[in-house]
Amino acid sequence: MTSANFATDGSRPALAPSDPIGVFDSGVGGLTILHELLVSLPAEDYVYVGDTVHFPYGDRTQDELRQFSLELTDHLLAVGAKLIVVACNSASAAALETLEQHLVEAAPDVAVIGVLRPAAQLAVVSSHSGRIGLLATPATVANGAYERAIAAADSHVQLESVACADLARMIQSGFPFDERVVETVRGYCAPLRAAAVDTVILGSTHYPLCAAMLQRMLGRDVKLVSAGAGVARSVERALAARDLLNPQKTEGTYRFQCTDDAASFKAVGTRFLQMPLGDVEQVRMPVAVAR
Ligand code: DGL
Repeated sequence: MTSANFATDGSRPALAPSDPIGVFDSGVGGLTILHELLVSLPAEDYVYVGDTVHFPYGDRTQDELRQFSLELTDHLLAVGAKLIVVACNSASAAALETLEQHLVEAAPDVAVIGVLRPAAQLAVVSSHSGRIGLLATPATVANGAYERAIAAADSHVQLESVACADLARMIQSGFPFDERVVETVRGYCAPLRAAAVDTVILGSTHYPLCAAMLQRMLGRDVKLVSAGAGVARSVERALAARDLLNPQKTEGTYRFQCTDDAASFKAVGTRFLQMPLGDVEQVRMPVAVAR
């Protein structure tokens, strides 16, 4: 961990409204969440880290995801983040509770917001039939966190979960989409159609990029839910509760870091952010430490 934002005695300076919001993901997928934050909270400054060297998180173990998430969180604290957004379903499922506990010690004034609870809440509010579908990575489905979040919101809702092996990677590398992507997505929709769900959670940050394809295959009446808008609301409330909303009237700044090749991140990332990316800096995380 760098010590850039720590005083010589190791203490953290008090947070200020002008401090940036820190956002992390396994790579470019979380840019679909950042997109929503930039639109909903335009006055804020953002630092985004994509852990591209460990992509895809969807194939990682729960322990690995917790380890990477702790390192990325410490990195964002060191660059002065006033709040952390875990813009990745796989990392939110595996690590959100660990991060919450870690911050109680490391930075009690810094809130951490994941994507899973906001998406689950939006889905429960949307569903009339009580049958909700989930498309997510194998790591997210294996964790069971969506089942728990949905059951906590409403015990009468049934969740049909589909683990979409390799779909995030296909979406990332398969543009423009070809028949292979279309047929893969169609296969993942089949169990959701059979279960007659009326709402589907796009449980990976990559999936909003194939929303049109999904809507066509699932039918126009099925509501597709992604976390972005709910995450932005949660961030707004968490900052307001701590008097940390940036009061400036102008647009804030945003900057990017990644743990692998910066040029590739920039080339792919623009499609996910739908805004210019600017410079991308390659950063190194510390060598893994057991916690
Ligand atoms: N960002 C990841 C998620 O939302 C998807 C991509 C990956 O597997 O790393 O789960």
